[in-house]
Amino acid sequence: PRRQRVFSGVQPTGTLHLGNYLGAIRNWVKMQDLYDTFFCVVDMHAITMPHEPRDLLEATRKSAALYLASGIDPDKAAIFVQSHVSAHAELAWLLQCYTPIGWLRRMIQFKEKSQKQNAEEVGAGLLTYPVLMAADILLYGTDLVPVGEDQRQHIELARDIAERFNHKFGGSKWKKLGGRGGKIFKIPEAFMPPAGARVMSLSDGTSKMSKSAESDASRINLLDSPDVLANKIKRAKTDAFRGLEWDNPERPEATNLVTIYSLVTGMSTEAAVEELCDLSWGEFKPRLADAVVAHLEPLQQRYKIIMDDASYLDEVLAKGADKADDAANRTLNNVRQAMGF
Ligand code: ADP
Ligand code: NA
Repeated sequence: PRRQRVFSGVQPTGTLHLGNYLGAIRNWVKMQDLYDTFFCVVDMHAITMPHEPRDLLEATRKSAALYLASGIDPDKAAIFVQSHVSAHAELAWLLQCYTPIGWLRRMIQFKEKSQKQNAEEVGAGLLTYPVLMAADILLYGTDLVPVGEDQRQHIELARDIAERFNHKFGGSKWKKLGGRGGKIFKIPEAFMPPAGARVMSLSDGTSKMSKSAESDASRINLLDSPDVLANKIKRAKTDAFRGLEWDNPERPEATNLVTIYSLVTGMSTEAAVEELCDLSWGEFKPRLADAVVAHLEPLQQRYKIIMDDASYLDEVLAKGADKADDAANRTLNNVRQAMGF
């Protein structure tokens, strides 16, 4: 039987951080053996907020190299850059014309991000970005989309867009235009990572560790040097309690740092708490820093080797784009036919 198809991507805005790795990319590595996987650097999403062209170019390559350094294997998965496959932009337009604006205005991320900008400067792309995301997913006949909780609403929207489109343009209407009939789009499902894989900010323990957070000290970037990592962890916000705990609602910082410790050491949170419960913050933090450094060291070494060979990365991305292009155009051709192009 056909293996289920998986599509996922990360935006190349800034450097990937530990949350992206533990919440997303590390799971992709496991999935590439079980599913037919497409992993994309979604660079066209990165321009929905103001951007610098040179930074985008650099961040796109860095992200692709980090996918490889994390263990994504180009012989198993298609690794590619969204803007290299023009079907994404084309399908996004076709879908946009049939997506009610009201659906888009309701998106939490739009509300949050548009409030951070001068209303006169909010680009239309910030509103329509979830339609591009729907196109990304629907193009590949995706069964499963591994995403964090923050993206659940966008997956729901992609499903609604697909259903509406199938209803409007699929079935016998499409058949009369020479098509196969039936559904044009497969309806995708969100695939949530296991609980605990949500990494919070070092600055407060309650907001998500994020590329878009202003303070660099709030996140552990995958490419931070050991010194920088130790320093960030040393300065991470703490509380006045003694000993370490996990899941005490009054202690989000402790919960977060113990979670990170358990994730990078591979221990259960129970085992981690047993090891750490009697430590002071001053004793725990260097231990956590050592564990994070040790966890990231092999990845950083592989990253260096990959970045030293520009032609290798070019080859991987060209091969990935070829494979993606084939799969995407199969869907896009159906859509074009069903819409009367
Ligand atoms: P960011 O918020 O840093 O810009 P993205 O929105 O590009 O990250 O998310 C890329 C992927 O990484 C998604 O699957 C998302 O759920 C996951 N992810 C992002 N931040 C975190 C986090 N702090 N903890 C766990 N997973 C995360
Ligand atoms: Na985000």
